[in-house]
Amino acid sequence: MFAVGGVVMSEIAISLKNVSKCFKRYTRPVDRLKELLLPGKSRADEFWALRDINLEVLKGHTLGIVGRNGSGKSTLLQIIVGTLTPTTGQVQLNGRVSALLELGSGFNPEFTGRQNVFFNGRLLGLSQKEVENKFDEIARFADIGDFIEQPVKTYSSGMFVRLAFAVAISVNPDILVVDEALAVGDEAFQRKCFSRIQSIQERGGTILFVSHSATSVVELCDQAVLVDSGELLLSGSPKLVVSKYQKLIYAPSEKLEALRQEIREINSQLFRGSGKTAVISDQTVPGSTSKISLQKPSAFYDPGLIPQSTISYISQGAKIENPCIFSKEGKVVNVLARGKEYIYTYQVKFTEVAYKVRFGMLIKTLSGFELGGAASHSLENAVDCIEPGSLVQVEFKFSCYLLPGVYFVNAGVVGTIDYTETYLDRCIDAAMFRVQPEDNLLANTIIDFNIEPSVLLMQQQVTA
Ligand SMILES: Nc1ncnc2c1ncn2[C@@H]1O[C@H](COP(=O)(O)OP(=O)(O)O)[C@@H](O)[C@H]1O
Ligand SMILES: [Mg+2]
Repeated sequence: MFAVGGVVMSEIAISLKNVSKCFKRYTRPVDRLKELLLPGKSRADEFWALRDINLEVLKGHTLGIVGRNGSGKSTLLQIIVGTLTPTTGQVQLNGRVSALLELGSGFNPEFTGRQNVFFNGRLLGLSQKEVENKFDEIARFADIGDFIEQPVKTYSSGMFVRLAFAVAISVNPDILVVDEALAVGDEAFQRKCFSRIQSIQERGGTILFVSHSATSVVELCDQAVLVDSGELLLSGSPKLVVSKYQKLIYAPSEKLEALRQEIREINSQLFRGSGKTAVISDQTVPGSTSKISLQKPSAFYDPGLIPQSTISYISQGAKIENPCIFSKEGKVVNVLARGKEYIYTYQVKFTEVAYKVRFGMLIKTLSGFELGGAASHSLENAVDCIEPGSLVQVEFKFSCYLLPGVYFVNAGVVGTIDYTETYLDRCIDAAMFRVQPEDNLLANTIIDFNIEPSVLLMQQQVTA
């Protein structure tokens, strides 16, 4: 182990030093051929997609990479993964890398899903036997049914990304690189992916995440970088980086250069005296899906809205069953109307005697951010004793102070074993629901604070 600038080398997962990438662009395809056959004068325009990128990502960190379209994010990821070589500079990686690059890469369209799983598994360093052992798990995660035996060219983009993500995470990578691909899947699948990304984070893995979704970058990443026209403009906290990125997207073109300079200055202040190496990140917007026009939304049940990320922990004498949401009229629903009251309910079957029992719930966003929850009892007022064979119905009435979007709910039962409060059963993503989109809604983001805006023109300027 040796140290560079105070950082021990073994703690660095990814290091880029003065990395630049130049693409040659030929106006006519024949010029490329001429240049090969008749060396000498170049017929190509040079295009620098990346210029002098310095970046270090420490192990265990999640870096978001943001930037406008064409800014060089995918090029950067491909250089890190090794599918492109840098024109100048050095890349160093420490650990097994697995990548989910933009759609189309990595899979052979003529091969079936199964053949591609084997092909990619081998590329990722697994033996034939290892892929065989993991195949069922990969197919289960992708959940594309018989399509696994069909050529990949017949897949929808959603199926494609399901299989690609399933393969990418199957190797338990030390470094996972995700390039905007997740925005393609539906919310249930996205949640499943985010929950896998979180378990890689918990294991100490390093993640690079390109996305347009400000919320996902802020929630998932602990560092972020802003790339613009091939330049690493800013490296800092996800909140800071995302705010400058949004400013850049909405800037009128005549203000762009001044804004870039302003961001560069913020960056040099942040990195004054600490050398010049930055850390990167970005991601895409899952956002709201369908824009259905609904005058007066009412709650209903959508059979397609079933969580795919449900994790049931090993139970200790209690089992959570039938988690669902009821409307006040007593109908099972999972598409809710903003502002209305609902009941989240589940049953618990006890197979062993339990002491000091309490029940709980927790509501989260798609990317796993915990919004709010409740326990059924305080610690002092816990249910003293529940006999084996008992069945308990647990209900949490709640008001839906959430804005349109998709949310997930946990369920949990705790009891006291040997004087310590322990989970008797726990179910992550037990249920999911959508809050319906509405026309002309002024409120935004996640929480509905029932804000009532009022704007008054106090003095009208009279023009002569
Ligand atoms: N193989 C290539 N040949 C020529 N130009 C390329 C190639 N790949 C990417 N580019 C160009 O490099 C720039 C950065 O592209 P990319 O890294 O895909 O941006 P982003 O992922 O941020 O949208 C774009 O202008 C793109 O047209
Ligand atoms: Mg890209």
